[in-house]
Amino acid sequence: MSVDRWGAVDRYLEGLYVEADPALDAALAASAAAGLPPIHVPRMQGKLLRFLVELVDARRILEFGTLGGYSAIWLARGLGPGGSMVTLELNPVYAQVARANLARAALGGVVDVRVGPAKDTLPALEAERRGPFDLIFIDADRPNYPDHFDWALRLSHPGSLIVADNVIREGAVTDPASTDAGVQGVRRFHERVARDPRVRAVALQLVSGKGHDGLALLRVVGHSTR
Ligand code: DHB
Ligand code: MG
Repeated sequence: MSVDRWGAVDRYLEGLYVEADPALDAALAASAAAGLPPIHVPRMQGKLLRFLVELVDARRILEFGTLGGYSAIWLARGLGPGGSMVTLELNPVYAQVARANLARAALGGVVDVRVGPAKDTLPALEAERRGPFDLIFIDADRPNYPDHFDWALRLSHPGSLIVADNVIREGAVTDPASTDAGVQGVRRFHERVARDPRVRAVALQLVSGKGHDGLALLRVVGHSTR
């Protein structure tokens, strides 16, 4: 099996399962035109994010890593009336593209794009009491995945769902000697999550036209042993 075959399967399944959404297509086109890297989630994984929002009836969502807002549109589409979302982005150019994409999707009033280093934006969210969040999607800055996990726990409640992208990296996570800081961050994330009694967690490897990577899904089961 090759990435070409995985891409062909993506296209086959997307044609069957993934409804057309012109705002999502426009977001990808605008992101590409602005020179953003094409590292958005695959379409079916976008639909999975929406599916999870609906499954847990999330009212408040937090995302680490907005990029062009593609996954934010998927996530926010799952919110019911009165729902809201905050998405954190380091790069002001990406954030500007994302805001335009969200506005085109009629989500400008639902999704709050916060720009800056997470070490500044996360304490601000906590000070503003914007949490707790029902669903948290971690999709940026892999060297700091263990810190993202800590923050996700601080900003969640028992029952919250935490989803982390890019936790396999073409299998590089199996290499303890990797010199990639992102791989080491993800390895420490797995080791921490797997033994933390505050969450019940699974990690899945996935293939797609974008390669071999995966998701971890963590359900917060308690905060008492912090
Ligand atoms: C990369 C980042 C992502 O979030 C992703 O889904 C795929 C690739 C990257 O940095 O290469
Ligand atoms: Mg990702």
